Amino acid sequence: MGLAPLWRLRGAEPVDDLPAEVPAPEPVAPAPAVPTSRPAPLADFMPPPVASAAAPVVAPVPRPVPSGDLAGLGWEELEARIRACDACALCKRRKQAVPGVGDRQADWLFVGEGPGADEDERGEPFVGQAGRLLDNMLASIGLRRGSDVYIGNAVKCRPPNNRTPETDELAACFPYLARQIALIQPRLIVALGRPAAQALLNQEVRIAAARGKLFAYGEIPVVVTYHPAYLLRNLADKAKAWEDLCFARATMKRLKADAV
Ligand code: URA
Repeated sequence: MGLAPLWRLRGAEPVDDLPAEVPAPEPVAPAPAVPTSRPAPLADFMPPPVASAAAPVVAPVPRPVPSGDLAGLGWEELEARIRACDACALCKRRKQAVPGVGDRQADWLFVGEGPGADEDERGEPFVGQAGRLLDNMLASIGLRRGSDVYIGNAVKCRPPNNRTPETDELAACFPYLARQIALIQPRLIVALGRPAAQALLNQEVRIAAARGKLFAYGEIPVVVTYHPAYLLRNLADKAKAWEDLCFARATMKRLKADAV
């Protein structure tokens, strides 16, 4: 698509030569501490409870353990359950459910909103125009679909007319995402857009306000950024998304360094 050059800030070096530590874009704050092993107790990298509002690490909102009987399922059974799911009305108009794709032992998990028409047709997430942009976003930080990267969605069935998933649809589908996370055990999750962030963090999220902060899903750090489809309509925010990805990359680097 020729979008790749847009993923370099003016005057920036090629992505392979990015500075080792990229500061969080906003607020300007010291780099957050990260766990010293994998997995590590969240408390290891949480600020004190009375930390200032500018603290970049945000406590997770407790949530009930997902109900149902997914806990013991492996990948094949889980994907079969997703494909046969009728837990919400989205099943009625889908061509097929879209479980997710990629490296099942990835350090990186990217979570989108839900399948669109192309994904509904092909059964794979992010294969349309937004997917091509996502691939460029991954490439901008040295990542590639399927290689140490897993891509999933907050809902596994296409919402009609690509509307935003409803809260009850996100909730009905969440146990599948939770089981995928438990199986993958990623080091870092990147939430692409508001519905993905809300599903993961169990709280209202405004992307503009959440950028540059480190959230957590259980013990796993979560970085929030704009959804690629939003970026296709709002080109000016691509530079912010690139900053978010650099923040994610720097966070991953610290996580790996602290784990050795
Ligand atoms: N948008 C998403 O959020 N997910 C997809 O799989 C495709 C487009």
